[in-house]
Amino acid sequence: APILLLNGPNLNMLGVRQPEVYGSESLADVVRRTREVAEANGRALLDFASNSEGELIDRIHQARGEVSGIVINPAGLTHTSVALRDALVIPEVPIVEVHISNVYAREPFRHHSYVSPIAAAVISGLGTYGYVAAVQYLCETS
Ligand code: DQA
Repeated sequence: APILLLNGPNLNMLGVRQPEVYGSESLADVVRRTREVAEANGRALLDFASNSEGELIDRIHQARGEVSGIVINPAGLTHTSVALRDALVIPEVPIVEVHISNVYAREPFRHHSYVSPIAAAVISGLGTYGYVAAVQYLCETS
């Protein structure tokens, strides 16, 4: 089944937003790269990005029975959203949580994640390569 790539608030500004923290690649570049990885593994990559918590939750509900794994960068919602975490258990597929930056080297409010306890794995600090690693992992295991 396909892999779903989800990106939360402000990640549509990737490449423009704090490039010293998040790099110069755009979100479209990341989607293209991860799609290549999925397709090299004979899988389709579905992708969705939104600045809206509700839209992300609606997309996750739709993913039940549709995908075999989810890669998500919940961005700021990582640290705030019980509702997003509750949604992520609904599809009953492995979740890989990705952060471009090393959140543990940053402000203390970024050290807690509502998503990590329900994730199969967490990648933080590998830059945009973290998405590639996550998609490759899910292609091999889900
Ligand atoms: C982020 C880290 C979060 O703390 C932040 O709110 C983001 C991006 C990352 O990819 O490093 O928006 O998830």
